Amino acid sequence: MAIGFSFQWLFLLCLVSSVPFSLSRITPRFPSSLISPEKVSVSTTTKLYKTSYFTQTLDHFNFLPQSYQTFQQRYLINDTFWGGAKTKAPIFVYTGNEGEIEWFAQNTGFMFETAPHFKALLVFLEHRFYGKSIPFGGDKEVAYSNTSTLGYLSSTQALADYATLIIDLKNNISAVDSPVVVFGGSYGGMLAAWFRLKYPHVAIGALASSSPILGFENLTSPYSFNNIVTQDFKSESENCYQVIKDSWQQIEDTAKTSKGINLLRKSFNLCKNYEYIGDYLESWLSTAFVYTAMTDYPTPSNFLNPLPAYPVKQMCKAIDNPKSGRNSNTFEKLYGAANIYYNYSGTATCFDLEDNSDPHGLSEWSWQACTEIILPTGGSTNQSIFPAYEWHYSDRASSCQRAFGIHPRRTWITTHFGGFGIERVLKRFGSNIIFFNGLRDPWSGGGVLKNISETIVAIVAKEGAHHVDLRFSTKEDPEWLKEVRKQEVRIIEGWISQYYHDLAHLSF
Ligand SMILES: *[C@@H]1O[C@H](CO)[C@@H](O)[C@H](O)[C@H]1NC(C)=O
Ligand SMILES: *[C@@H]1O[C@H](CO)[C@@H](O)[C@H](O)[C@H]1NC(C)=O
Ligand SMILES: *[C@@H]1O[C@H](CO)[C@@H](O)[C@H](O)[C@H]1NC(C)=O
Ligand SMILES: *[C@@H]1O[C@H](CO)[C@@H](O)[C@H](O)[C@H]1NC(C)=O
Ligand SMILES: *[C@@H]1O[C@H](CO)[C@@H](O)[C@H](O)[C@H]1NC(C)=O
Ligand SMILES: *[C@@H]1O[C@H](CO)[C@@H](O)[C@H](O)[C@H]1NC(C)=O
Ligand SMILES: *[C@@H]1O[C@H](CO)[C@@H](O)[C@H](O)[C@H]1NC(C)=O
Repeated sequence: MAIGFSFQWLFLLCLVSSVPFSLSRITPRFPSSLISPEKVSVSTTTKLYKTSYFTQTLDHFNFLPQSYQTFQQRYLINDTFWGGAKTKAPIFVYTGNEGEIEWFAQNTGFMFETAPHFKALLVFLEHRFYGKSIPFGGDKEVAYSNTSTLGYLSSTQALADYATLIIDLKNNISAVDSPVVVFGGSYGGMLAAWFRLKYPHVAIGALASSSPILGFENLTSPYSFNNIVTQDFKSESENCYQVIKDSWQQIEDTAKTSKGINLLRKSFNLCKNYEYIGDYLESWLSTAFVYTAMTDYPTPSNFLNPLPAYPVKQMCKAIDNPKSGRNSNTFEKLYGAANIYYNYSGTATCFDLEDNSDPHGLSEWSWQACTEIILPTGGSTNQSIFPAYEWHYSDRASSCQRAFGIHPRRTWITTHFGGFGIERVLKRFGSNIIFFNGLRDPWSGGGVLKNISETIVAIVAKEGAHHVDLRFSTKEDPEWLKEVRKQEVRIIEGWISQYYHDLAHLSF
């Protein structure tokens, strides 16, 4: 089987995927392009916040004339529960990820639900180059046009934006002494953890949920991501794993003739004919498996796509007990599984493998994945549910060369933020970080899974998926999830009371 590499899938923390199929014959597409045949609406009926804009500096790190350009950075604010500046009530800040901030705010129920208890002000900061926070006059076409404009998109600039905005906001509302706690999930969780380490004078602590800050080269195996996806399906049923594992070769073989292509088109209810259906179909299916594993939540969800509770179990049910009966072939079984991810609401009339919609505005992640966030996740062992694939850095480098004409800065993240020997380093240097990970989440392989000190704590949930702790709670939430949230609240209470104590007792 032709195997290549597609960096454009590889990340999204919140969304990524790591698909070992050759897309070399196909123009690179973005991960999000495959997410959503059914358009997911970002709008919400209940108002959760007010929207504001802040005039932000384009480049915080040098003093060349062009650095002084500005752009409008969006942030969302909710002061309904805030105890006010006089009582130094806390400020909870979400450090936005690679997409529309409204989408993340709407999926971060934990902050809304704990705000009344803490009397916290809620603020959600949008990451530069995403959503409505677009430099160069807010014009995406200009901002995304080439390396001279995209060069201002980096995690380091984003953290500096967050620090600048938080300090300014606190001044404006006379809340200089209110403690700030930062929150984030996925890449946003990495930003929250890094923010606490780089700006300890701005944030007293960080809840970093499902943040693979150790997911970098030489720290985490490039096979770990797909190993976890494999384990998720295997844990439901050995047959389910085997059917999926064996299907890739069958698809490849079938896609060789035009008769076969026709059969695949019919089997999967595709909208149109493709010349090279194999790679498209394999990417489309593996997207469904990867994202379903990531969002294998215990209750129904609508993060990437509408999904039932325990969607991996549901997919395996579709494969093990196909609707079309005992004599179903592999394609019928896979079609049933794909329907769980792409058509749970039952409204899709046909499937478009080339859907380029990007409902959450995630496209610029590929730039970040090519410059600094080099998360090697694409490797697949011979036991993987996906075709075996050896991960090589050079594949990423050449994809990025083709896509943007740039060389990744392979070691920059670990140079700037650290990662090697994290236990030793942070034990003496850091404090007040919660690393939450759910072990069913393929990103957990790159997470901090061990306690580092009294105050740098790893909360690990065996049955948890991608930042499940941050979701809005429901009556059906399992006990372990309620416990995780309670523990997080207790820890944050501890940080805040320590802060008030220090404020009263330490004089400078
Ligand atoms: C803040 O969020 C709550 C829901 O948790 C909502 O009832 C309230 O209207 C929101 N406040 C603002 C100012 O949007
Ligand atoms: C990059 O894009 C900007 C904005 O569209 C344009 O002004 C500039 O000339 C372009 N630079 C190069 C090297 O193409
Ligand atoms: C603080 O107030 C100034 C003056 O009104 C305003 O320009 C700025 O945007 C405010 N800062 C924030 C973070 O909203
Ligand atoms: C989506 O599900 C509905 C209801 O089960 C079904 O009628 C429809 O054919 C499915 N769509 C596709 C593209 O298979
Ligand atoms: C799969 O097994 C073959 C034969 O043992 C070996 O040569 C190859 O390196 C393995 N592939 C991976 C990705 O481990
Ligand atoms: C990982 O190790 C290889 C080989 O020693 C080295 O070339 C590469 O720069 C390392 N990567 C990182 C991120 O440190
Ligand atoms: C870390 O310590 C906390 C208690 O502070 C404990 O609840 C938790 O289970 C520990 N985490 C791990 C991964 O051992």
